[in-house]
Amino acid sequence: MSTVDDPTLHKLADLGVRDAVSLAFQFTHLRARLQRELANASKSGGWDKLREEWVGTGNSVKTRVTENWLPSAPEHLRSFVSRDLENLINEVFVLSTVMRPLDQLQATTTEQVGKQFQKVSQLFDQEVSECTNEVDLGVTRTSWLGRSSGVLTHVTNNWLKTAPADLKRTVGAEFNKLKSHVESQFEARRVVIEAGADEASGAKERVDLSLPGVVRPLGSRHLIRQVFQEIEDIFFSIGFSVVEGPEIETPYYNFEALNIPEFHPVRDDMDTFYLELPKGAPGPLLLRTHTSPMQIRTMEKQKPPVRVIVPGKVYRRDNPDATHSFAFHQVEGLAVDTDITFCDFTGTIEYFVKQFFGPSVKTRFRPSYFPFTEPSVEFDVSCVFCGGSGTTASGTCGKCKGAGWIELFGAGMVDPAVYGFVGYDAKKVSGFAFGIGIDRLAMLKYGIDDLQVFFQNDVRFLKQFP
Ligand code: DAH
Repeated sequence: MSTVDDPTLHKLADLGVRDAVSLAFQFTHLRARLQRELANASKSGGWDKLREEWVGTGNSVKTRVTENWLPSAPEHLRSFVSRDLENLINEVFVLSTVMRPLDQLQATTTEQVGKQFQKVSQLFDQEVSECTNEVDLGVTRTSWLGRSSGVLTHVTNNWLKTAPADLKRTVGAEFNKLKSHVESQFEARRVVIEAGADEASGAKERVDLSLPGVVRPLGSRHLIRQVFQEIEDIFFSIGFSVVEGPEIETPYYNFEALNIPEFHPVRDDMDTFYLELPKGAPGPLLLRTHTSPMQIRTMEKQKPPVRVIVPGKVYRRDNPDATHSFAFHQVEGLAVDTDITFCDFTGTIEYFVKQFFGPSVKTRFRPSYFPFTEPSVEFDVSCVFCGGSGTTASGTCGKCKGAGWIELFGAGMVDPAVYGFVGYDAKKVSGFAFGIGIDRLAMLKYGIDDLQVFFQNDVRFLKQFP
C-alpha cells in the first residue's frame, strides 16, 4: 500500500469517522494490512523492518495514529482510539514474535527459549488485564486460542514444530506452561468481569431504603360481605348469634330432615349440584341449595332456646342472568323456644326490615308454602323505589311493576315434623324460621339491577362500595 493511500496520514474526520463503528472499521483495515505484512515477513524475513514500520519511534503507524487520529478524534471516541491503538501495538509485538522461528529470534539455548516464552506471557498478561467486559475478553480469547491463527497456534507451528531436537523438550514444556497459564488467566478474568458486571447491575438495582414505599391501595369489603355484616349486626342486637355450616351437604340435612322426602316435588325447584364421588365413597353429597340445613345441625347440637342466623353461600343449577346465578347468598334465621308465638315472628321480621331499609318501609306477609314451616309465609316490603305507591314520575314503577310491594323472602313457623328429626318435643317447643336472599336484598337496597356484577369483581363496581 502506498503511503499516499495510508489512512493514518489523515485526520479521522476526513476519513468520515464520527462514531465507534466507523472507527472500528478503520482499525480492522489496519489489522488486515498488518496480517498481510506479517505473512510476507514469514516468507521473506524483514521482521525488524516490519516492527519499525508499525511500532517504531520514527514515522511508524503508531506515530501517525497518535499524531493524526488521536487529537482529531471527537471527544467521545478518544479513549477508543487509544485503546485500539494499544491493542494493535501489542498485536504487532506478539505476532512478530510468535510468527518467527526460534532461531530467527536468536533463541538457541534453554534459557533464551524461556525468555521468549516469558515475553509472550507478559504481553498476554497485559492484554488480558485490559479486558473489562465479556466482548473484549471474547475477542482476546480468539486472538490467543483461535485454532487457525491464534497466538498459541503460531507458537505450535513456528516454535514447537520447528524446534531442533535438543530444544524440543524445553519448548514443549514451556508451551504447555504458557497454554495452561493463558487458559487459567482467561477463566480468572472471566470470573472478575462477571462479578464486576453483577456488581454494576447490582448498583443499578440497589434499593434505596430511604425512599417512600409503594403504597398499594387497600381493597374494601365486597358489597355482599357488607350486607351480611349489616344483617348480622341487626340480629345480634336482638340476641341472635351467628353460626356457619358446610357448603357440601348430605341429602339428609339439605332435604329429608327439613321434611322434604325423596320424591317431594319441591326438590324439583332446586336444580341441584350433586358431587361426583370416587367409587365406594360414602354419598351422595351435594352443594347445599339453601342455608336451611343449618337449622337441623344447630338443633341437633343444642337444646332450646335457639336463636341463630346463618350467613352463607348456596348453589343451584340456574343459568346466570340479571336475577339468577349458580351461586348466591342467603342468611337463614331460626328461633325456637317454649313460648314463641306468631307475633314474635312477625315482630322480629318487621324490626329487621325497618332496621335494614329504614323506618318508613312497611311489611306484609302472604300465605305461602315451605315443607319445613307451617304456616309458611312470604314477606313483602313496600317498594323502596316508588315508596309503595306503584308509580313514579315517569309512570308505573318498573321495579314493583305497579304493585307497590316487593317480594322479599320466605319464612314461617317451624313445622312440628322438623322437631321430630332433631329430638325436640314438638308439643313443648315452637319457633320460627326465615331464609333471606342476600343478593336480592343488596340489589334492592343499593339500586343494582344486575346480579352478575356481584361475581365479576369489576373494580369500577367494587369501588362504589368502599
Ligand atoms: N330455604 C328456602 C329457600 O332457599 C328459604 C326459606 C323459606 C328458609 C322459609 C326458611 C323458611 O327458613 O322458613 O328457598
